[in-house]
Amino acid sequence: MNQEYISIRHLSKKFDRSFVLKDVNAVLGKGEILGFLGPSGAGKTTTIKILTGQLRPTSGEAEVLGIPCDRIDERIYEQIGIVTDTSGVYERMTVYDNLKYFARLLNVPLDRIDPMLKRIGLYEHRKKPAGKLSKGQTQRLILARAILHRPKVLFLDEPTSGLDPSTALEIHSLLLELKKEGMAIFLTTHNMDEATKLCDHVALLNEGVIVEYGSPEEICLKYNRIKRYRVQLTDGTKLTLSQDPDTAGRIMIWMKENRIETLHSCEPTLETVFLEVTGRELK
Ligand SMILES: Nc1ncnc2c1ncn2[C@@H]1O[C@H](COP(=O)(O)OP(=O)(O)OP(=O)(O)O)[C@@H](O)[C@H]1O
Ligand SMILES: [Mg+2]
Repeated sequence: MNQEYISIRHLSKKFDRSFVLKDVNAVLGKGEILGFLGPSGAGKTTTIKILTGQLRPTSGEAEVLGIPCDRIDERIYEQIGIVTDTSGVYERMTVYDNLKYFARLLNVPLDRIDPMLKRIGLYEHRKKPAGKLSKGQTQRLILARAILHRPKVLFLDEPTSGLDPSTALEIHSLLLELKKEGMAIFLTTHNMDEATKLCDHVALLNEGVIVEYGSPEEICLKYNRIKRYRVQLTDGTKLTLSQDPDTAGRIMIWMKENRIETLHSCEPTLETVFLEVTGRELK
């Protein structure tokens, strides 16, 4: 069996008098990406804070690399990387010096810095004060800092929120490379397309409760109750047809006559599933 890097069992968290996480269960193995998805206030950041030892759970257990979260100390910080919305950079230090500072702190050989800067596309900016970077560049620097010590587990709290699509794509391909190298990545996002593309498993979280858990594909197929095809013909006609023998016959004829411009099955996306199970929008 794949090595389990994170395990969460019956985790609950209460602030004041209300529960913001209720009986949450999840696992993350080596080389996997797990996505916690849900609207604002669902409990995503709270989960990351518990897993990284910044908050104590009210009940239940969570382990990261076999260590219970309430006993997390420096030893584990050498093996995990964290990016949250409060992760900052030293604005007056150069891009290079920001990484050098962390390399020293975490006992990382300095010759890893240049290859890392090249990998994240900041090598040309290495002498610039970090405060002068654009938002996307800053986000990449924060990510570089979180992975410089080659952690086994990476926590990312909305890593691409507010980034332009091409920077988000660059971050996605970097995350997939890290996954291939065996890193386990726990990420939170509002972005269902991002989750579908990156995650081996997702947990749909609503008001502290996991309402669906599985691979994005499994979840979408589970909700594919009314099976339909969407067809556009070469004369511009657009049709949505139920999956039945009559439709199959019509499609076959159109195909023979070369009249089909596009043909799609209409299985739901994670976004439509989420709307169905929670009855509300994601943002
Ligand atoms: N320290 C705290 N004290 C009291 N309530 C808190 C505290 N931290 C978080 N909460 C509450 O817990 C709930 C979950 O918050 P959390 O930050 O985990 O949500 P989130 O899913 O990360 O949302 P977002 O998508 O907006 O980042 C919210 O209702 C929030 O107000
Ligand atoms: Mg949050």
